[in-house]
Amino acid sequence: MTALEPHTPAAPDPTHPRVSPLDTAQDQLSSAVRLLGYDEGLHRMLATPRREMHVAVPLRRDDGSIELLAGYRVQHNISRGPGKGGLRYAPGVDIDEVRALAMWMTWKCAVADLPYGGAKGGVAIDPRGYSQAELERVTRRYTSELMPLIGPGQDIMAPDVGTTEQTMSWVMDTYSVNTGFTTPAVVTGKPLAVGGSLGRATATSRGVVHAAEAALAEAGTGLPEVTCAVQGFGKVGSHAARFLADGGARVVAVSDENGGVQAAEGLDMAALQRHVAETGTVVGFAQADPIAGDELLALDVDVLVPAAVENVLDADTATRVKARWVVEGANGPTTSEGDRVLAERGITVVPDILANAGGVVVSYFEWVQANQAYWWTEAEIAEKLAHRMRTAYQAVATRARADGISLRDAALVIGVSRVAEAHQLRGLYP
Ligand SMILES: NC(=O)c1ccc[n+]([C@@H]2O[C@H](COP(=O)([O-])OP(=O)(O)OC[C@H]3O[C@@H](n4cnc5c(N)ncnc54)[C@H](O)[C@@H]3O)[C@@H](O)[C@H]2O)c1
Repeated sequence: MTALEPHTPAAPDPTHPRVSPLDTAQDQLSSAVRLLGYDEGLHRMLATPRREMHVAVPLRRDDGSIELLAGYRVQHNISRGPGKGGLRYAPGVDIDEVRALAMWMTWKCAVADLPYGGAKGGVAIDPRGYSQAELERVTRRYTSELMPLIGPGQDIMAPDVGTTEQTMSWVMDTYSVNTGFTTPAVVTGKPLAVGGSLGRATATSRGVVHAAEAALAEAGTGLPEVTCAVQGFGKVGSHAARFLADGGARVVAVSDENGGVQAAEGLDMAALQRHVAETGTVVGFAQADPIAGDELLALDVDVLVPAAVENVLDADTATRVKARWVVEGANGPTTSEGDRVLAERGITVVPDILANAGGVVVSYFEWVQANQAYWWTEAEIAEKLAHRMRTAYQAVATRARADGISLRDAALVIGVSRVAEAHQLRGLYP
């Protein structure tokens, strides 16, 4: 498929029922376009990435052999500002996944009312199989291939699955060395010592908890009244579980890709974090019982937070969800069919483009601080983040109530219409 061809959903393959995240993203856009009454031309424009770059990333391994990796960067939309979005290192990364993630970034930035478009990048690599020196070479080569496309006013990366603050330092350094001057605003999610922002490392998780609290408040309840299960114990899930517990919720189960653990009385978060720091996984945590990853999704809890990967709530797993609220920490954890099943079953889904927007909100704060070379206090950042999340949630919830639609459709309608408005005001060149 070439860059500007419209996406046609893949034909179902009964032997390999994997749903492409791009199918989910395109279904969601189609739903918003239907609700907004847009014509086919505008739909096609919103559905199609503005720019895509495929890069070959040759890597010299530590043993001297050469390996060729595939890398991608997609700028889905840049009408409201520079492209903004994470960089993912995972073995299954492909162009369609990156397209979907870039599209979600566009709507997310618009829902949070940030002056950004949406972008995403990825390299098909399992970072656990590579040394730090090899990952540094991959990152520097990938960055240098993308030099013409990225920059503080063009496209700004951040960490995602499989990448870290250190990865962002290497991107920033490679970009800066090639331009000849230090440019902290080319990436966000950097370490503090090179222009990162206080509060960025935990911002996505804090935002997830703000979104959960707002959804619970609508039903007249709050964190001290609920039980939670969190899937994924990485940058988003581990802090989300901790903040939910800090807020008074009983977090009864968590999982990572190796398996899960549960404790009906609530997990001791501090002890669990120590166990993970020592072993690298939640599995084997002595003060809890083991639970299979899939079982966690079907636990009898009030709030389920998928914070791992795409497509975990599909037509099948969604029928087994017992939670009353699903708060999406991950991007694209629910397929279109899964969404339909959850809606039919009366389960409230706080969608990814709203629930996990806290990360890009504080990325925006980091970029603003870097551009003005003046740094804010942690309290200022926490307060501004809480305000942004509550404002975005209220706008989405109000729209959902007014139009009788789901929170997902309401968030999409707001995000998509803001982008379409920018297109219309700017006009079509030439
Ligand atoms: N990092 C951010 O700021 C940020 C912002 C917004 C959205 N997200 C999204 O949140 C999700 C997680 O990102 P992250 O940054 O925490 O990544 P990460 O690499 O730090 O952590 C991912 C976690 O998911 C676990 N995992 C993978 N497959 C799993 C499975 N099948 N079942 C259970 N656990 C599984 C991994 O073991 C790990 O604990 C992704 O969808 C990402 O796009 C991240």
